[in-house]
Amino acid sequence: MSVEESDLSLVRPDAGETERRTEASLRPASLRDFVGQRDLIEHLEIVLGAARGRGQVVDHILFAGPPGLGKTSLASIVAHEMGAGLRVTSGPVLTRPGDLAALLTDLAPGDVLFVDEIHRLPRAVEEVLYPAMEDRRLDVLIGRGPSARSIRLDLPPFTLVGATTRTGLVAAPLRDRFGLVAQLELYEVGDLERIVGRSADLLGVSISAPAAGEIARRSRGTPRIANRLLRRVRDVAAVRGRDGIDEETAREALGIFGIDERGLDRLDRRILDALCGAFAGLPVGLTTLAHALGEEPATLEEAYEPFLMREGLLIRTPRGRLATERAYVHLGRRPPGGGLV
Ligand SMILES: Nc1ncnc2c1ncn2[C@@H]1O[C@H](COP(=O)(O)OP(=O)(O)O)[C@@H](O)[C@H]1O
Ligand SMILES: [Mg+2]
Repeated sequence: MSVEESDLSLVRPDAGETERRTEASLRPASLRDFVGQRDLIEHLEIVLGAARGRGQVVDHILFAGPPGLGKTSLASIVAHEMGAGLRVTSGPVLTRPGDLAALLTDLAPGDVLFVDEIHRLPRAVEEVLYPAMEDRRLDVLIGRGPSARSIRLDLPPFTLVGATTRTGLVAAPLRDRFGLVAQLELYEVGDLERIVGRSADLLGVSISAPAAGEIARRSRGTPRIANRLLRRVRDVAAVRGRDGIDEETAREALGIFGIDERGLDRLDRRILDALCGAFAGLPVGLTTLAHALGEEPATLEEAYEPFLMREGLLIRTPRGRLATERAYVHLGRRPPGGGLV
């Protein structure tokens, strides 16, 4: 078995080709397969049902939330439920206005255009999007210099589905043009258990209920992590020559991969270690913290802090990040006396 360092980076997007392909095979294909996020799914069912009833395309939808919660899955579910075609692109790929114009003019009526990481669209490209979203209109500039002129193209009806890890970074004029802004929350353990069970079925491996529960509890509220842990646990079961996954195997495997009882991975603990050690009792700015750990500020803010905050281990204050008393206790450290949270 290869226990590579990259396997341990559970929430990173650069997880490698095999990981990506397995992930795609575990993706829920319809609303019925999608576990959890009940409020959001209810809203979505209403919006999709109403559009279908009127025989119209769905309003533009923005999905927001930490990585691995199901935004990309939902984009293809929207297309699937509407019986529509799906075109996929992402903010950083669309570097020039012409890139987006080419995509838009190529759309078939009813298509869903999915723009991942929409907060990373360059401003000039974003401006092409406004009239396209609002009036299905594209203004293109032909020629250059004094002879340049603008022509107007009509676009077919289409639905823009955007995804972002940071609603705060989506410019207000863009955000306002979505008919539905849907925020995804970290998952409850019960939902993650169902996801682990479903994925185990799809992977053709048997797993006991307590083992699924153990993986669910240690998945940081994130289906992508639950699925990755399941595959690592399955590897350990295979190496040990066990048929299915029982609780003992799950515990052993999670230990090997550095996931602790609370579900914190190595970087979670390094974050808390820094806040409770070098910076003990002092609020620390995000950039300072990221530099101290050799990580990107965005990784900490989007992928790590939401879980640490939900667990009551870290708080954001106007002056910076602080570890809570619970974090000191978890690390087995003594909290500094006085003004602690
Ligand atoms: N609600 C869900 N039910 C079942 N599986 C899910 C759910 N949400 C996410 N997943 C799983 O997690 C993986 C990551 O989901 P994805 O849609 O790529 O997340 P995001 O785009 O938000 O990063 C998917 O491959 C899928 O297997
Ligand atoms: Mg995605």
